[in-house]
Amino acid sequence: MPTVICFCINKIPIIAKALTVTISIAILLTTLDRDLNFPQIYFLFSNHDIDDKISAIINNIRNIERIEFQNVSLKRGDFELKDFTFTFEKNNSYALVGHSGAGKSTIFDILTGLIPIEQGVIKVNGIEVNGYLDIIAMQYFSVIKQHSHIFDADFMDNVTNFSAYNFDDIKQNRLHTKFLSRLVNKNSQDLSGGEKQMLSILKSSISNKQVYLFDEVCSAIDKKTLSDIRAYINNMNCGILIEISHHFNCSDYSHIIEMENGRIKHAKNIS
Ligand SMILES: Nc1ncnc2c1ncn2[C@@H]1O[C@H](COP(=O)(O)OP(=O)(O)OP(=O)(O)O)[C@@H](O)[C@H]1O
Ligand SMILES: [Mg+2]
Repeated sequence: MPTVICFCINKIPIIAKALTVTISIAILLTTLDRDLNFPQIYFLFSNHDIDDKISAIINNIRNIERIEFQNVSLKRGDFELKDFTFTFEKNNSYALVGHSGAGKSTIFDILTGLIPIEQGVIKVNGIEVNGYLDIIAMQYFSVIKQHSHIFDADFMDNVTNFSAYNFDDIKQNRLHTKFLSRLVNKNSQDLSGGEKQMLSILKSSISNKQVYLFDEVCSAIDKKTLSDIRAYINNMNCGILIEISHHFNCSDYSHIIEMENGRIKHAKNIS
C-alpha cells in the first residue's frame, strides 16, 4: 500500500503536466479550427452538445436550398436591425448594398453565428437554426472579408489551404495564365492588397462550399483586372452568393438588396 501511495504522489506532477498539455492542445485546436475551417476538430472540442437536433440539422442541410430570415431583429449599441425578412435561394447571387453602418456586415455576422439574434427566426431548408449557425457556417460557408487572413506561407499553400483544396480546378482557367503564374513563387505576405484579395477569391472558389459570403472582396483590385475577376466570380459554382459591395454592377447579380439604417429599403430581382 505505501508503495502504491508513493507511486501516486511521485506520478501526480507528471499526470498534472500531461493533463495541462492535453487541455492546452484542445484549446489550441479549437482556436485554430475556427480559422482553418475544420469542423471535425470543432465538434470534438466545442461546447456544443452534439445532440439529436444538431444531427438532424446537419443531415437535413447537406444541400442548402434556401436560407430564410423572418423578422430578424437585434441591437448593437445604438444600431438596430429591425424586422429583417428575406429569403436567399440556391443558384442566385445577391448584392447587399447600402450606406456605411446600414447593417450589411451585421447580416454576415448573424449568418456566421458571431452574434445572436434577439427576435425572429432563421431557417435553412425550412429548419429553424437559431443558435446553430456557427456550426453550419463552418461546414458549409466560405466567408471572405476585405482583409482576410493570409498565412505566412507561399501562394499555393494559401490558395489550397495547405493542399486541402484542389488547385487543378483553376489551372485551366484563364485567370491562372493571366495573373497567377506571376504570383505563385511569391511569399503571400509580400503580395499587394489587390493580389491578396485575388488569392482569397481563388481560395474560396475551390473550397467547394455551398454558401459564399463576400464582404468588399474586390475593393483593392484595379479596374482593369476587376473585369476578369468579376467574370471569374460570376462563373463560380456558388450555391448562394451574397456579396457586400459599395461599387457594384447590377448585371453581376440576380438580386439587389439595399439596406438603410438596419432595414431593407429595396429588394429587387433582376434576373
Ligand atoms: N461589435 C459592435 N458593437 C457595437 N456596435 C457595432 C458592432 N459592430 C457594428 N456595430 C454597429 O452596427 C452598425 C452596423 O454595422 P455594420 O458593420 O453592419 O455596417 P455596414 O453596413 O457593414 O457598414 P460598412 O459599409 O461601413 O462596412 C454600425 O452603426 C456599427 O457601429
Ligand atoms: Mg461592413
